[in-house]
Amino acid sequence: MMMRIDVISAVPDSLISPLNTSIIKRAQERKKVEIIVHNLRDYAHDKHKQIDDKPFGGGPGMLLKPEPFFECIEKLLCERKYDHIVFPTPGGKFYDQSIANKWSLAQNIMIIAGHYKGIDDRVREKFATDEISIGMYVLTGGEIAALVIIDSVVRLLPGVLNDSESALNDSLMDGNIIEAPYYTRPAEYKELKVPDVLLSGHEKNVREWKAEQSKILTEKWKKINKLEK
Ligand code: ADE
Repeated sequence: MMMRIDVISAVPDSLISPLNTSIIKRAQERKKVEIIVHNLRDYAHDKHKQIDDKPFGGGPGMLLKPEPFFECIEKLLCERKYDHIVFPTPGGKFYDQSIANKWSLAQNIMIIAGHYKGIDDRVREKFATDEISIGMYVLTGGEIAALVIIDSVVRLLPGVLNDSESALNDSLMDGNIIEAPYYTRPAEYKELKVPDVLLSGHEKNVREWKAEQSKILTEKWKKINKLEK
């Protein structure tokens, strides 16, 4: 069965164009995944379709109200079971390739894209099964985190990537290895040269060069990121 991903957002336009571009668009066209974006405002029923309100206890800004989220999420939960109800937040578990690998085996994923300091916490408390941070920085909302998660999961689904794009060769896939750099024509551009060995046609030398470059880049990457030796 095709994977299904539901995203709930107060700014759905920010998701539509990225999800309808390139490989993620193609994945939907190939029926490898169905991605449905829900506009929070469609679940507001008062006269002004209000989705936000002032925070109790004071403080600047507005908060997304709980009722539209509850209504949308409860409707979805009536329709099917979800393997993961993801709540992007700077306070969550750091997202990485191993989480993407696990989630690529799921049937149904829901992502609640609230806004940091911008969503009534009862939504997280009641529904979230996975609180996820995509890194040590603060975004304006969960939408970009949702896109990161969707992109990294969908490209792993069987039949999404073509052979030449294969996820199996990925650097980080088989345990924190950074790949050698790639080049195409022209062989020289603005005095910048493609390494000679790649033009040589000597398969064994190319293989050895790639392994060596990969080793150098992996060591450098570990050092600049202060990872284990
Ligand atoms: N929302 C705001 N910042 C975030 C982050 N770094 N990760 C996930 N969700 C967020």
